[in-house]
This record gives sequence, structure tokens and C-alpha cells, in this order.
Amino acid sequence: MGGASQAKQADKASSDETASTPAANGSMPGPSGAPLAPLAAWTPDSWRSRPAAHMPAYPDAARLESALRELASLPPLVTSWEIERLKALLAGAQRGERFVLQGGDCAESLDECTSEAIASKLKILLQMSLVLVHGIRTPVVRIGRFAGQYAKPRSSPTETRVVDGASVTLPSYFGDQVNRAAFAPESRTPDPGLMVLAHQRAALTLNFVRSLIDAGFADLHHPEYWDLSFFSHASLTPERRGEYEAMARTLADALKFMEALGEKAVDDLQRVEFFTSHEGLNLLAEQAVTRTVPRRPGHYNLSTHMPWIGERTRALDGAHVEYFRGIANPIGVKIGATASGGEVIDLVRLLNPAREAGKVVLITRFGAGKAAAGLAPLLAQVHGAAGDAGPAGIGPVLWMCDPMHANGLTTPAGVKTRSFDAILAELHETIDAHGAAGTRLGGVHFELTGEDVTECIGGASGVTEDTLHVNYASACDPRLNYAQSLELAFLLAGRLAGRG
Ligand code: PEP
Ligand code: CO
Repeated sequence: MGGASQAKQADKASSDETASTPAANGSMPGPSGAPLAPLAAWTPDSWRSRPAAHMPAYPDAARLESALRELASLPPLVTSWEIERLKALLAGAQRGERFVLQGGDCAESLDECTSEAIASKLKILLQMSLVLVHGIRTPVVRIGRFAGQYAKPRSSPTETRVVDGASVTLPSYFGDQVNRAAFAPESRTPDPGLMVLAHQRAALTLNFVRSLIDAGFADLHHPEYWDLSFFSHASLTPERRGEYEAMARTLADALKFMEALGEKAVDDLQRVEFFTSHEGLNLLAEQAVTRTVPRRPGHYNLSTHMPWIGERTRALDGAHVEYFRGIANPIGVKIGATASGGEVIDLVRLLNPAREAGKVVLITRFGAGKAAAGLAPLLAQVHGAAGDAGPAGIGPVLWMCDPMHANGLTTPAGVKTRSFDAILAELHETIDAHGAAGTRLGGVHFELTGEDVTECIGGASGVTEDTLHVNYASACDPRLNYAQSLELAFLLAGRLAGRG
């Protein structure tokens, strides 16, 4: 979105959701890559015959049916043109011509669909992307982790607490698309109406993002736009402060220079494109927004540009992989430290049988310490299959790093947090592993917010274990705040440019 002509075009979604999908059928690969039994034909609901992890249990079948009917009748949030455009940009990233920045909340909240929250998230992502563009001299593809990030996997389907001396067990909180966080039966019972409400809130979010971008919000060359004042009062070493100040100065000079060159050059900076993503977890909702479009083959998930499969739902024979293998969108897949190279190769083969460029994005999240030892062999093995033009080949993949999800920790006081240093360490280890394997880190995935929250510890912002309580606002995982996000962008840009 953002590209004016694309944003003005609209898909006319066909009501025929049962049309068969070319190139979606294949065979379930075995560990060796050899095909096993042929897969049944893909349809938007073929996932229902597979074991589905982390799916909500809706108690009222009639209400569920009616909510899904309503969701399926609502207009989509994105178009197939935008989705294909992102795929083309991701293909460029696979060739090393672009770098991807993906970020946003762990879980969006239906109640916090406010102009301030949306604008500040967009602003920090735009600023980080500009720091990266400037540092690595490579165009950055921006993908928000928002406008639909409302469903969360949970380690247990139920949660037990002691209430008034009695032990009470209720369904876990699965995100605002499914149920509500308050520990009460009426909040925790999965409510199908929330799928419709979440779609509407995602539409409001996206509408505001599109308007801001169209109105020139992304015009980043004004110095007042940059709030770097926190660097001056942060407890930084003189070297690091000097490095930041020098980068900020050259960035400002570069922008002024481009401005001096005339409208056209500045215009290129102003006209940014922005894409959305969310974890495709609740397959009932994802199916309802899966549509065919006129004049393009296949099915698109038209609620987001790039849905991703989470670490907990990437089982080869599971419902999520079955659903994702049939949609035409680019697909993200989280890859944790327990994954083997063979498993990843099988996954890619299943998800991208046509070996389409720009289609598969592998997001590693090994954890600081683990990425150093375990990642390089996996990268090398998958790289071998990606480069193989023969029958065992899997086509190109894009490697990204999510340094958040394997670096969670709980303080002695019981607060969930993440350390800035561990996040940075995983990024360094991951870049080292790519160097060793002959592959390239093509993007990063962060949980962040543009607000001044105190959820992660460390970095120049100076949040410590003792100050986590000051503004801890996340209903889910701890996010990097504005200062931590920007500092990380500076450090990452420096490292990728060979200065870190
Ligand atoms: C997430 O991205 O919020 C998430 C749950 O990540 P992962 O699937 O990698 O654990
Ligand atoms: Co999270």
C-alpha cells in the first residue's frame, strides 16, 4: 500500500471460494525430500482434516457459523495487487537488493485502536527504516506487525488461578480476536463476534496508516521529526554517544542535501510503501478472508499482505501448514532452535511447490547463545537445497531474524521481560552465522512500540529491573520502546555496514 495507484485499485473479490487452486497440489515430502503419498487437493477449508493446534473452542456453533458468514461477506483489507507487489519486493530482498524491517506489537488490543498508538508505531518503523537505509545503502521494505495481529498461541489451553480461596480454571487468553484478558468466565469464553470486530478494527488501523502515508506523514527530512534527545541524557559511553551523534548528523545532512537537490529526490523519500502482517493462527478467521479475485489465479488471504506461521504451529502435517500451502500471499515461517535443516527444507518444499521467488520468508528465532552454535549448519543445509536447480531444489528463501521470541526472561519479581543486550547479541550471532554459512541476513522482526513503555531492560533508555513497573503496558510479550528501537536500528545499521 502507499503507492498511490495501487492503493486506489480495489480487488473485486469473487464469491466463489471453492475454485480449485493451480499449483497448490503436490505431495507430502519425506525427510529425504522424496515425495510420499500425494496430497489431497487444497481448498480454503482442507486444513479442517488436519490436527489444528492452538485453535479456539467456540461453544456456540450457531453463533460461530453466523459470525464466519458475516466475516466472509465483509470487504477485504488489502488487494492482490499489493500482495503481488510485496512478493516482488521480497524477491528483490532474496537477491540482496533490499532489506526487510518487520515490527509492531506482540498482540494488538481492540481497545487501543487509537490515533496516537497507530501514528507512533508507524513513526518509529519509518525512522528505523531510514536509519537502516542510510546505514546500509539498501532500500528497506517496511512490514508492520499490525492491522490484524490479534490472535496469540498459548502454552496451555486453560489457565488456573485461585479466586476467593477456590481454584478456578478458565480458557487461556488467546488474544482479542478470540476472547478477553480479564479472568472471568464471560471474558474468557471464546466469542465469535470478536473475529468480526477485529476485522473492523484492523480496517480502521489500516485506513489511518494509509491516510497518514498519503498525507506526507512519512516526510522524514524535517529535523524536528527526530527526537534524539534521549541520547544526550542516557548513560552512554562517550564512544557510543559520538557514534550516534555522527550518524544522526550525517543522516540530517544527507536529507538536507536531497532536499536541496529538488522536489523529485525528496519525493522518493516521502512516498513510502507500507505492508502489513500477522500470525495466521485462528484458521477459521483466516479461511473467511481467503478469496479468489478476478483475473488472477489462486486464492489470496486478503486480510493482510504477509501472514506468518508461528513456531508452535509449523508442524508439517498440521492444519496451519495445510492452510498456508494453498494461499498466494508471501508466507513467513518462524524457525526455532529445535528445527532441523531437513525439516525446514520439507516445509519450504510444501509451502512453495512452484519455487516462486519472494514467496517464503524464514524467520529464525534461536535465542542469544543458541544462534552462535546452531544456526550456521541449518543455514548451510537449507542454502544448499535453495540453490539446487534439480528435483531436490526448493527455490529461493529470504532469511530474517526475530531476536525477541527466544530471549524472554522472568525477573525474580515475576515480571516478563527481555534484555536489550540479549536481543542485540542474537542479531550479532545471526549475522555471524550467515557469514559462516555463505547466506545473507535479509531482514529483522521486532516487537516494539513507539510509546515510552518500560517492558524490556537495557539499552541507552536505561530501563532496569527496578523500573519495569513504571509504564509496563503490554498485555502479552514485552516490547522495545521508542528509544530502544531506534538505538537498535543504529547498532544494526552499523553492524550491517561493517562498523559494529
Ligand atoms: C510471536 O511472534 O508473537 C510469536 C508467538 O512468535 P513465535 O511463534 O516465534 O514464538
Ligand atoms: Co510475542
